[in-house]
Amino acid sequence: MKHLPALSLFAAAVGFGFFASPVSAEEITLYSHRHYESDDILFKKFTEKTGIEVNVVKASADELIERLKAEGENSKADILITADAGRLQRAKAAGLLQSVDSKTLSDRIPANLRDTDSQWFGFTMRARILAYAKDRVKADELSTYEALAEPAWKARVLARSSSNIYNQSLLASVVAAQGKDKAREWAKGVRGNMSRPPQGSDRDQMRAVAAGLGDVAIVNTYYVGLLLTSEDEKDRKVAESLGIFFPNQDGRGAHVNVSGGGVTKASKNKEGAIKFLEFLCSDEAQASFPKSTFEYPVVESVEWAEMQKKWGEFKADELNLSKLGELNETAVEVFNEAGWE
Ligand SMILES: [Fe+2]
Repeated sequence: MKHLPALSLFAAAVGFGFFASPVSAEEITLYSHRHYESDDILFKKFTEKTGIEVNVVKASADELIERLKAEGENSKADILITADAGRLQRAKAAGLLQSVDSKTLSDRIPANLRDTDSQWFGFTMRARILAYAKDRVKADELSTYEALAEPAWKARVLARSSSNIYNQSLLASVVAAQGKDKAREWAKGVRGNMSRPPQGSDRDQMRAVAAGLGDVAIVNTYYVGLLLTSEDEKDRKVAESLGIFFPNQDGRGAHVNVSGGGVTKASKNKEGAIKFLEFLCSDEAQASFPKSTFEYPVVESVEWAEMQKKWGEFKADELNLSKLGELNETAVEVFNEAGWE
């Protein structure tokens, strides 16, 4: 009974709106697989601009997807952010995302870099390219992903495991272009040409090329940038010893993928979430990615980093990235059949 007066006072205060503004500060919660400090700086800018607070929960994409499934409608997440369209498609297939209608998003993001049902949108792009030993390989010996399966590359190729989504998406793009049987032959051929069993990260493949353990590695572009600007002098030397080659330039183009995000089905602040995705496509946010993480902007008018300009313009495979997710299971199956562990 002692508490009654205090409670009534509280009720009166709420009634008069004393607590209205601080208590109802608008916020959104991101479930993010990305782990860049530069993202946090960007999120702060969004808050300064809009007054919307950004809470970030970081974990691996698979963990976040499992968590969203377990939380269902009670999830606090408004947005899921992951690297690789394959994972975004997994979240879509599990019914964890919702379609959003935003002219800004559909005008600024090329159609192949966003979901056909507007459930996810790419906001940075990367290409899966060949990094080669400049002292042992000439650029004109390289041509296509397909050519890596040829006898000329016996015991010279380095790549990470097939459990990695980047390789699964690359293989999905080969399935889309060539069909399952040819893709299987290709995966078998490349695996047969590897100079060691698949292991390690993209960065490790480049370190292995520099150490002479192989001549050509399959890696994402931004890892080259991250090595070139590394605090570790050894890694900078590794990157400096490598040439960068964009495959399939006379054909379908180099395989590209995105980091992207979508609004969760459980979102309690869809409007705020859309504002956030639109902010990620603003000139300001887009211009920050090439400089900080060496990812390409998805908005074509935005300037590239000097390093990216040096690597040069390239033709990108225009396959809609939704396909990568749709063909993910096939790709995993083909890798197993081909013996690429
Ligand atoms: Fe990565």
